[in-house]
Amino acid sequence: MAIAKKMRGFTEKSSWIRRMFEEGAVMKQKHGAENVYDFSLGNPDVPPPAAFSEALSRVCRDQQPGVHGYMANGGYPFAREAVATRISREQGMTLSGNELLMTCGAAGAINITLKALLDPGDEVILLAPYFVEYDFYIDNHGGVSRVVETDSEFGLDFVAIEQAINAKTKAIIINSPNNPTGRVYSTDELQRLGALLRAAAEKRGAAIYLISDEPYRGIIFDGRICPGVFPVYRDSIIVGSHSKDLSLPGERIGFAAVHPEIEDKASLLAAMTLANRILGFVNAPALMQRVVAELQDAAAPRAVYARRRDVFCQVLQEAGFQFQRPQGAFYIFPPTPIEDDAKFCRILQEERILAVPGRGFGRPGHIRLAFCVSEQVIVGAAAGFKKAIENARN
Ligand SMILES: Cc1ncc(COP(=O)(O)O)c(C=O)c1O
Repeated sequence: MAIAKKMRGFTEKSSWIRRMFEEGAVMKQKHGAENVYDFSLGNPDVPPPAAFSEALSRVCRDQQPGVHGYMANGGYPFAREAVATRISREQGMTLSGNELLMTCGAAGAINITLKALLDPGDEVILLAPYFVEYDFYIDNHGGVSRVVETDSEFGLDFVAIEQAINAKTKAIIINSPNNPTGRVYSTDELQRLGALLRAAAEKRGAAIYLISDEPYRGIIFDGRICPGVFPVYRDSIIVGSHSKDLSLPGERIGFAAVHPEIEDKASLLAAMTLANRILGFVNAPALMQRVVAELQDAAAPRAVYARRRDVFCQVLQEAGFQFQRPQGAFYIFPPTPIEDDAKFCRILQEERILAVPGRGFGRPGHIRLAFCVSEQVIVGAAAGFKKAIENARN
């Protein structure tokens, strides 16, 4: 076979969600889609807000010359300014459009950031369980992942993070609200993390960058707030998108914003801008930049996801699962009743329930359940969850 050996290995490693997707398609054909309870994908089913199609129609009617042309690689100035205004509000700190780039989703934003930061062999700390694509993104740019476990409630383990930092540490990626756990880090946790990174960077005499991956920022429950990283740590970069909050994952629209006082700001922004181009993104989609510039005040459908979270928690509790109640995003990550999470997923499949094994997120012994599905699907799966627990224990 002609493909690279490394890619062969990656394909195998990334195969859990894909495998679930493929097996789900077969099951749906066999039993009918309505009889399969598919919790495997983080693909929002809630439609984008009405303001989205209104803005899209308006933008499509704009026939000015050049509207579909190339632009500066960082994006349209007015779009950058609109996103920067929202981020300034969220972070309680003034940010200008020049400190932000429009990107192809959060994935594009993470890639340009890592491309700009990493030299070969540089390490990036990841907090398990985590979005497994981070490993691939880090490898894309010659970096090495260093995985640190979170605590029993998926909170930050400061001792473990401190122990993982060494002369090669260049960055740490955090993700709150979290995929796959639904955990939201508190102000206190972020302040402690900021102090730890500051002390470690000072001791070493080189910056350690905090990359805060926030595509789920708008999806948060119980009146919580998602505290900002900019006020607690200078060398930080926020990456995000409208894939989840506005249900636009296929449109590939996101951003990367740097702290206004970040070390070596001008060269970092220049490197990220060039990375946007040479990684082949060139620039974020023009139409979508125009559209989301108008939607920065649109709210995510929090109430819909919060209600599903409540219903799902009840279903799982009644089935006998014990788990951390999600504080945001749209995932639950319960421990499995048997150690082998892949085997438990097969047992769930016998009940026509699709889940992803925790090992696909660097934490075996768990499953990830996405609630981007109707309440009907969640309630419909209740008997199957109960039966699967009984079957797993027998
Ligand atoms: C934690 C996390 N980060 C980044 C991404 C990528 O998001 P986007 O579709 O905006 O590239 C995802 C997508 O599922 C995610 O869950």
